[in-house]
Amino acid sequence: MYAFSKSVKELRSSEIRDLMKLATRPDIISFAGGMPNNDLFPIEAIDEIYNNLDPKLKKTAFQYAPTQGYPRLVKSLRKFLKDKGLPVKNNKLLITTGSLQAINILTKEFIDPGDIVLTESPSFIGAISVFKSYQARMESIPVFEDGIDLGILRKKLESLPTLPKLLYITPNFHNPAGITYSSKKRKELLEFLANKDIIMIEDDAYGDLYFDEEIKDIVRPMKCDDPDDATICYTGSFSKILGPGFRLGWLLVNQEVYEKCELIKQAMDACSPNFTQVLANEFLEQGKIYPYLDMLRANYRKRRDLMNEALLKYMPNYVKWNVPRGGFYFWFEMPPKFNASEIMPIAIEKGAVFVSGKTFDPAGVKNNNFRMSFSNMGMDQIDKGVKIIAKSILEYESKLK
Ligand SMILES: Cc1ncc(COP(=O)(O)O)c(C=O)c1O
Repeated sequence: MYAFSKSVKELRSSEIRDLMKLATRPDIISFAGGMPNNDLFPIEAIDEIYNNLDPKLKKTAFQYAPTQGYPRLVKSLRKFLKDKGLPVKNNKLLITTGSLQAINILTKEFIDPGDIVLTESPSFIGAISVFKSYQARMESIPVFEDGIDLGILRKKLESLPTLPKLLYITPNFHNPAGITYSSKKRKELLEFLANKDIIMIEDDAYGDLYFDEEIKDIVRPMKCDDPDDATICYTGSFSKILGPGFRLGWLLVNQEVYEKCELIKQAMDACSPNFTQVLANEFLEQGKIYPYLDMLRANYRKRRDLMNEALLKYMPNYVKWNVPRGGFYFWFEMPPKFNASEIMPIAIEKGAVFVSGKTFDPAGVKNNNFRMSFSNMGMDQIDKGVKIIAKSILEYESKLK
């Protein structure tokens, strides 16, 4: 056994990573991965973009980019974000290697071992791993249908020995909880943060994938209302739209936070892939992004509807869920004595897989929940897969009695 560093000793392969291997087995219907749908990637548009690139630009694509990002992408992305109401003028944009790197950079910037990071419970497993890798002390606050519980958050602050340095939240189409913060909750959270010296990371990986017009107004990033007396670091990604293979995300932060971010990134990987930055820029500059997003929203909405219909048909009545209004995920709550990890082998045996709740619990314990993603499988598999999961739960329950 090697003498691993303290910071990596506690890192374990997550159930979800192991499940990704199963996800590729053709006989299993996988609701596990949070991947976009392979058939929706803009392959023809990207072919056309690449084939029509000026030869000089092709050579640029093969080169290193400035650490901040390929300048034309920084410009076109600033416009894209500005159109959503984000305050690009008073903030700086950094292109990152996926938005997970954005979370990583911010954590490196602010967290020493033992510093407190507040997360939601449940929370995105990738972010939990990042916080662990910097030996943060994680304290979690439950999220409900309208967002984080501010009463518990206030109480938590009173009980902690020191002020948390970071608060990490995903207000839009939460992974895994599927919920979206209400406008009221967003306003209250901004008020709560005023003059607190707690830096908030607002992770908006799914915000463009809304399914109805009403929710479109609600998902306005909190960073848009960035007050002077609070610090919001906004992160986003091309992963759930153009594809995770681009490995492109971003960070929108104030000048002071930005300066260190750029230095940290320089030491991490010097720059994000210039090849995909050039392609992504053309996709934005040529305005291809807007009809493409419309197509994605319609397709994922259809999948959400098919899944909900199947759930209503097959799920036992003691399994509860919210209908997501965007994004990729349904999140389920079962009675407290249920253990999702014990249901999983039954489901896999029958030919379908989900992710059990403890994967997303910062403490790695609570397991009467599970997550099913509707993004990646064929639409014709949704009904069959849901039926298998529901049957597996019923079978498990009959043994519990
Ligand atoms: C909430 C959330 N944030 C960030 C990411 C990271 O995505 P990427 O690093 O590919 O941009 C994911 C991916 O699953 C996610 O679900």
